[in-house]
Amino acid sequence: MGGFDCRGVRGEFPEFSRGVIYLDNAASTLKPRRVVEAMREFMYVSYANVHRGLHTLSMEASKAYEDAHETVAKFVGGSWDEVVFLRNSTEAMQTAALLAVFNGLLGPGDEVLLTEAEHHSTLLPWVRAARLVGARVRLLPVGPDGVPLWGRLEEYLGERTRVVAFHHVSNVTGAVAPVEEVARKARGAGALVVLDAAQSVPHMPVDFRRLGVDMAVFSGHKMLGPTGIGVLWGRRELLEKLEPPLAGGGTVKRVRLVEGEVRAEWDVTPWKFEAGTPPIVEAVGLAEAVLMLSDIGMERVRSHEEELTSKALRELTRLEEEGLLRIVGPKKTPERHGIVSFYSPRRNPDEIGLLLDRRRIAVRTGLHCAHILHDRVGAPMGTVRASFYIYNCPEDVDALARAVEEILRKPQKTPRKAAEPSP
Ligand SMILES: Cc1ncc(COP(=O)(O)O)c(C=O)c1O
Repeated sequence: MGGFDCRGVRGEFPEFSRGVIYLDNAASTLKPRRVVEAMREFMYVSYANVHRGLHTLSMEASKAYEDAHETVAKFVGGSWDEVVFLRNSTEAMQTAALLAVFNGLLGPGDEVLLTEAEHHSTLLPWVRAARLVGARVRLLPVGPDGVPLWGRLEEYLGERTRVVAFHHVSNVTGAVAPVEEVARKARGAGALVVLDAAQSVPHMPVDFRRLGVDMAVFSGHKMLGPTGIGVLWGRRELLEKLEPPLAGGGTVKRVRLVEGEVRAEWDVTPWKFEAGTPPIVEAVGLAEAVLMLSDIGMERVRSHEEELTSKALRELTRLEEEGLLRIVGPKKTPERHGIVSFYSPRRNPDEIGLLLDRRRIAVRTGLHCAHILHDRVGAPMGTVRASFYIYNCPEDVDALARAVEEILRKPQKTPRKAAEPSP
């Protein structure tokens, strides 16, 4: 396997002409020309609503939309009927939680097991679903580095555990969870396993069946695709059995009024889960993004990012040893992937972020929708997060380390009052 030309790929991303060093990929990635062009071409030439007409344009659009399911499914080791297009990871996780509620998979006295490191998009849908049915949420604690104590999993799995939902890669620490092992134990305890793959699918080869999970979610905008589309993947055997939580146009084969009662005959999966007009143009864009990533090869994407992550850890550890900052999470790869977060006793994260922005370095600062995790690692004001993708090169990491060092070494005139952290 050859190395990866991070500089060569930049031509696909016009935003680089603004001279930015973009290290905010865990929030959202930049958009390549070929994705934008595919969407533009589709909108100008073949656009119509899908599955709602027999005219030529509708048939063409339906074919493109169905092909997008196939392309995306293949990317994660599934089949087209296991891929449900929704708005983003958050809506997909919300749908998974509602599926459990609507289908009686979660009831009074049952337990949902999550971890203290979950993104709010995983935490909150399950907390609310549990509340709705009188179930209880348990949280596997994290250690001082913010990584869930997976070795204690069995203590938290009980007879009443019906669902185990957790992240593949943490959006704060970049820690990679031992998904296969967790899924095996959780399924052994009779629980449904739901994976938040928002930070893994864009960055490494992922095969949900091989990982042994039942459902998983990820977002198009974090993997070169457009906003407005996310994926709920589920095992076909499971999806076939479930009633959709969101109903409406496109979810049914036939609706009848029988003796004064409305009866709906649900369509097959995945259509029964895609209520209303779906993200058609976005699906075309996401499929093109997947093709671009596949052309590069996900193993190359993974190893390129691993190189950048190792370098960032090396550079920032040097500053940590001088007491300028503290890195949150595992200190080496492959336990950590694509993301490096830190905080400093000298300046609050938002200030560091703004000073980096003045040097044209884009990072995310704040609590990254993971408040409990930040409290647990002693960073209630948040962290500065640098996250990498295919178009980042080693010199971006050098620029980041140089700028952070310069910002943190500079003496401050008066100690600053801590501001409210960004959410
Ligand atoms: C781990 C993780 N899960 C879920 C999400 C939610 O993704 P979206 O905002 O696309 O719904 C994010 C986004 O940052 C994330 O990092």
